[in-house]
Amino acid sequence: MQPTNDGAHGKKRFGLSMEDKERLLAAMRGQTALASSTGRTARQSIAPELLRFDTLPGYTEIRVQQAVAHKAGLDEIFYVCHEGLATNRTCINGRELRNFSTYDYLGLNGDPRLYAAADDAARRYGMSASASRLTAGERPPHRRLERSLAQLYNAEDCICFVSGHGTNMSTLGCLFGSRDVIFYDALCHNSLLLGAAMSGATRLAYANNDMQALAALLEEHRYAFQRAIIVTEGLFGMDGCLCDLPRLVELKREYGCMLMVDEAHSMGVVGKTGHGVHEHFGLDARDVDIWMGTLSKSFCGCGGYIAGSAALVEFLKYHAPGFVYSVGMAPSLAAASNEAVRIMLAEPQRLARLQANGRQFLALARERGLDTGRAQGYAVIPIMAGDSLTTAILSQEVRNRGVLALPMIYPGVEEGKARLRFFISAMHTEDDLRWAVDAVTESLPVARQKAASYAR
Ligand SMILES: Cc1ncc(COP(=O)(O)O)c(C=O)c1O
Repeated sequence: MQPTNDGAHGKKRFGLSMEDKERLLAAMRGQTALASSTGRTARQSIAPELLRFDTLPGYTEIRVQQAVAHKAGLDEIFYVCHEGLATNRTCINGRELRNFSTYDYLGLNGDPRLYAAADDAARRYGMSASASRLTAGERPPHRRLERSLAQLYNAEDCICFVSGHGTNMSTLGCLFGSRDVIFYDALCHNSLLLGAAMSGATRLAYANNDMQALAALLEEHRYAFQRAIIVTEGLFGMDGCLCDLPRLVELKREYGCMLMVDEAHSMGVVGKTGHGVHEHFGLDARDVDIWMGTLSKSFCGCGGYIAGSAALVEFLKYHAPGFVYSVGMAPSLAAASNEAVRIMLAEPQRLARLQANGRQFLALARERGLDTGRAQGYAVIPIMAGDSLTTAILSQEVRNRGVLALPMIYPGVEEGKARLRFFISAMHTEDDLRWAVDAVTESLPVARQKAASYAR
């Protein structure tokens, strides 16, 4: 059995043990002090460090990383400010760059039809939904968007949340409990890991896409629990590889589990008409119990969705904390994303271009001998650089050559597996792709040399 609180991006510090969860819940109910489960704590003086935020261990970590980055001349790697619309090009510090840092896979950011849809909804319904949809009511754009998304999966219903991250946390967090088990791919996104932790279910990780390891875990542990779910991403957002959906469906049937697929990076990206991994593998979407996706990527907005059975959606509408206790999505964003879904279906050339660009970028990178890890040539293609410092320097070097691609470094990925992550868009031209691959090829030896000299 693998440890439960792991996964590449969800270190233990993010997780809650069962004991932590029980204590936290009890404290929230006012039954105990957090410091003790046996009763009142003795009065004593509290160390002043415990009243400050700059003494948190994570804060020190940030400051150390910043000092190293400063020494290496890397002051502007994170939180860059785009001075205008970011498409396949963007402007930072007055300089135009070829942009590989956006999730806008179908190239819809800046499309006047999305502005028109957002503008119309804002004028009719205002800028904000102002309160929870459960209590204060919803607007027609919410319902239209949920209907369109449900149709993509031939699902009975769909529910949209204001955040993709919150969608996963709330959904897993409220559907499962201490008598259940969650089997998850070790490369799953942080939001899935946190949702699993929040649920209080037992969590068992299997190595990325290792179906034999998953089968072994199921064989050993499935029957000790009530409900069980297997959780995966459709296209893994860090590594750019697809899940093995056909085998996952077989295993979930064989072992009496549910299956959840996070399509943040595969909806609008794979499949002949962009319907995601079930279309890619020629499966019936109803083979999957919970389809999750984000609106921040192919659908050019903000928020997340769950599509599935009517009972699932109804349950979430009354139990998912990130829905019940959170404001509804801004009507303008719901209308814009709904327009993005319409355009995806009406203009298949966008998807064809995105898919061709992904294939070409991968082929060019491989031709130059770059390490693209597990990437399969879709919208996410990492170029592996090794350690975090080399990767940060590489990002700066490619930017000097006119390319914006952001580094994924520790703790976002394991140390030693740092990479530049390229997001491919339908907007990229062949020239953009060639330029970017040339920039990395030229920059990598420079970055390695500089990193070695700083290490000395
Ligand atoms: C696989 C996956 N799921 C969920 C999310 C969270 O989505 P959002 O950024 O829209 O909150 C992300 C974010 O990138 C993601 O990559």
